[in-house]
Amino acid sequence: MKAIRIIRPGEPDVLELTHLEEPTPGSGQVRVEVYGTALNRADLLQRRGAYPAPPGVPADIPGLEFSGVVEAVGDGVDESAVGSWVMGLVGGGGYAEMLVTDADHVVPMPQGLKFVECAAVPEAFCTAYDALVLQGGLRPGQTVLIHAAGSGVGTAAIQLARAFGAARIFGTASAGKLEALEERGLSLDVPIDYRRKSFRDVIRRETDGRGVDLILDLVGATYWTDNIASLRTRGRIVLVGLVGGTMAQLNLGVLLRRRLHVIGTVMRSRNTEEKSALAENTREHLLPRFESGELFPVVDRVFGLNEAAEAHAYMEDNQNAGKVVLRVRN
Ligand SMILES: NC(=O)c1ccc[n+]([C@@H]2O[C@H](COP(=O)([O-])OP(=O)(O)OC[C@H]3O[C@@H](n4cnc5c(N)ncnc54)[C@H](OP(=O)(O)O)[C@@H]3O)[C@@H](O)[C@H]2O)c1
Repeated sequence: MKAIRIIRPGEPDVLELTHLEEPTPGSGQVRVEVYGTALNRADLLQRRGAYPAPPGVPADIPGLEFSGVVEAVGDGVDESAVGSWVMGLVGGGGYAEMLVTDADHVVPMPQGLKFVECAAVPEAFCTAYDALVLQGGLRPGQTVLIHAAGSGVGTAAIQLARAFGAARIFGTASAGKLEALEERGLSLDVPIDYRRKSFRDVIRRETDGRGVDLILDLVGATYWTDNIASLRTRGRIVLVGLVGGTMAQLNLGVLLRRRLHVIGTVMRSRNTEEKSALAENTREHLLPRFESGELFPVVDRVFGLNEAAEAHAYMEDNQNAGKVVLRVRN
């Protein structure tokens, strides 16, 4: 099979198209013919040698999500699964024509969506759903702030916050990405161009000084102080990404006095039971919303598998508004 390998840590040119043996599905697993995969910031870190793959997945083939067709099954998996159109999260190995994964970790592709669209669903929507709803406890009528709203995860989070009843959605992004969101029909109630305005000031003004119920933060250190100041009493922040750095200072007294909840989360290193539970949640709570059109993947651009290096450079240059997909097969 064709696959993209990281031949050594470095710039995008260390991504090499190569030929490898097809993996064999183990007990409880399926082998999937991959049609599409999508980029994540984690892939860029892994390419640079800063985010090694967890045990049990290919160490040098990036790719945390896929869409494709089940082509073979391992022991204990019903043969009727062969031929199903599926999508899912994996700990690595998505940039390849074949991958193996637990049968419990795949979910059916929503009817009406293409492979390149479904490749853009798992990381963005599972991460945002898990952060906002399962961990963040979003309830109808609450106020939400979504940072990096023009990112893959951000574009999913806007839709999910709306679908799960947020009363008012604030979002930060650069001006070009705020425009791109409007063009896609993903309007925020209060869009904030973070390069021109302080989100903390906007939130204080718009909430009469109370703050928001929930923050989905994809940025980290540079936003930390203003995030804490933008939460209402007993507010929650779910920290999902660190594109703005990892080191921050905090007056712990503020957490106590205002009874704030700080939740950190990551998808990739979760154990197999946690991944099965998330797949089950996706089947039950998200698939019907994709099939009704309430949720839709936001694909910024599609590259070929052999253009993985160009795709990495494009994302590293911060050009994408939404997901960057690799078409693995036609
Ligand atoms: N914890 C998990 O399991 C998990 C899973 C998936 C993703 N993530 C994380 O979530 C984040 C978003 O991922 P993605 O794949 O959706 O990325 P993406 O589509 O490439 O978007 C990243 C966004 O970050 C914004 N950004 C970059 N540098 C910034 C800075 N210094 N300050 C403010 N905004 C900045 C950019 O928007 P502007 O042009 O508007 O600045 C860009 O839209 C990443 O940090 C990623 O690692 C975490």
